[in-house]
Amino acid sequence: MTDTVLVETAAPGVLQVTMNRPERKNALDRATYVALAEALSAGDADPAVRAIVLTGAGGSFTSGNDIRDFAAAAGTGPRVAMDYLGVIANSRKPVIAAVEGFAVGIGTTMLLHCDLAYAAKGASFRMPFVALGLCPEGASSYLLPLMAGSKRAAELLMLGEAFGPEVALDAGIVNAVTSEGGALAVAIEKAKAFVALPPEAVAVTKMLLKRGNAAAVTETLATEARHFSERLVSAEAQAAFAAFLTKR
Ligand code: COA
Repeated sequence: MTDTVLVETAAPGVLQVTMNRPERKNALDRATYVALAEALSAGDADPAVRAIVLTGAGGSFTSGNDIRDFAAAAGTGPRVAMDYLGVIANSRKPVIAAVEGFAVGIGTTMLLHCDLAYAAKGASFRMPFVALGLCPEGASSYLLPLMAGSKRAAELLMLGEAFGPEVALDAGIVNAVTSEGGALAVAIEKAKAFVALPPEAVAVTKMLLKRGNAAAVTETLATEARHFSERLVSAEAQAAFAAFLTKR
């Protein structure tokens, strides 16, 4: 386990998993994806854990995939990210996201798999895949139209503009907008509410809510991954990564 993912018990039965690279706005590098997947899998398997809260350290959720890893990904593809997305998409326990600050790329698309999500005032979402020469991932090309409608999904995925928590709420990406700095406390309260409920009934209800889309989500994850891997090594994407990295 790396210290870029912090795992703690926030309350009895509530596992808090925190993305922790604040100097990079919690950008997800390979080790962090692996640690996140491990933390979520372990929580899912541990009978003492009844709900999982996912959040970021230092006032950001996550700035998405580490662009240095994207730039270096030639030939290897986004495998660790896809593995992590598979874990979150298939988790059997309630997963609740608490978003402060930036939620970029996979920082937004992972929310589509969380059962509940709360964003603080001032949160900033963006799925800049096209501007980076990439394409949607995380089954967002399937789930976002379903949640937000096809026109809104096209705006958010094809134009890839940044948007605030009220738009995220309207698009069905989050449940509610909290006060600034208040998202984690709300997420933990909701997690405690799950702890007070009978766990088998919670698990069956989650399974029933997810099953209608499960096959399409799995298929979309795989199809997007194929295109995404091709895009990663494209001239368009490599130029976009170089532009981001040389600006620094
Ligand atoms: N990958 C690698 N490094 C990243 C990063 C990422 N996804 N996001 C931020 N960082 C780094 C920055 O390079 C900067 O490093 P430096 O201090 O060495 O210059 C540091 O984190 C702080 O980020 P900074 O850009 O200064 O913060 P900001 O508040 O001005 O902007 C963002 C925050 C998230 C809007 C901006 O960093 C950004 O656009 N990041 C890229 C997001 C992205 O495209 N992710 C991939 C999506 S598919």
